[in-house]
Amino acid sequence: MNISVFQVVQFLLIAVILLYLLYYVYTLLFDKNHQPRAWKAALKSGNIPAELQKAEAKYPDKVRFFNFWFQVERLKKDGVRGAFAELGVYKGDSAHFIHLMDEKRSFHLFDTFEGFQENDLAVESGKAATYTKHNFADTSVERVKQRLTGPQFVFHEGYFPETAKEAENEQFAMVSMDADLYKPTKAGLDFFYPRLAPGGVLIVHDYNPDWPGIVKAVDEFAQTIPEPIVPLVDQDNSVMIFKVGSSA
Ligand SMILES: C[S@@+](CC[C@H](N)C(=O)[O-])C[C@H]1O[C@@H](n2cnc3c(N)ncnc32)[C@H](O)[C@@H]1O
Repeated sequence: MNISVFQVVQFLLIAVILLYLLYYVYTLLFDKNHQPRAWKAALKSGNIPAELQKAEAKYPDKVRFFNFWFQVERLKKDGVRGAFAELGVYKGDSAHFIHLMDEKRSFHLFDTFEGFQENDLAVESGKAATYTKHNFADTSVERVKQRLTGPQFVFHEGYFPETAKEAENEQFAMVSMDADLYKPTKAGLDFFYPRLAPGGVLIVHDYNPDWPGIVKAVDEFAQTIPEPIVPLVDQDNSVMIFKVGSSA
């Protein structure tokens, strides 16, 4: 039987692809090396609800996921009072797993639920300058309400910071900011920081060179507060701001 070089190369290529697929499926299903010890211990003691376990398995950025989990555990341990909030909810992916980490907290959700607004986009550079009103517009408040059900959820549909007044008397223990743009991020820092409980934390996504609007908003805000900005090593480089002292 004559085997050509082409057939050998073809066979090797198929073998490599199959091996890679096998490895990918194996790591997805069985490799738990990325899980921190504290999470494994909580799993063993039955303290992680099944739905949160599923969310962890599916969520691609493990560092971001576990950072939220560690922060929520810290807030519980230290008895930090206050609600959760997210600015930039889209279809509710991150809000969903954050809620599962502490289902008792009320959770304020801020989004237009129809994508970005022209006046926010006008000042952008970097990746955000390529955004249009169509990005993140394929969602709706009705759709997210079907996913995030329960009395803990308070929806603030519309343009932020116009919707901020609906929660001006609230105190927050943890705020996730994921609005991608300079203007809502700056407005969010100005609004949420004075309303953070002592020991509370603000987590801002996308503090990296691809998103100069986020870097600008955070850097400007950093000049006005005593606390340092704490960087994270998650995929998109979130930063955290912890509130010390007394809240407003
Ligand atoms: C990157 S997405 C959020 C992703 C979300 N955290 C998730 O888990 O999939 C950014 C969101 O910010 C919202 N957003 C941006 N600027 C806004 C503003 N000024 N007011 C309200 N929502 C805004 C957009 O509508 C969009 O849904």
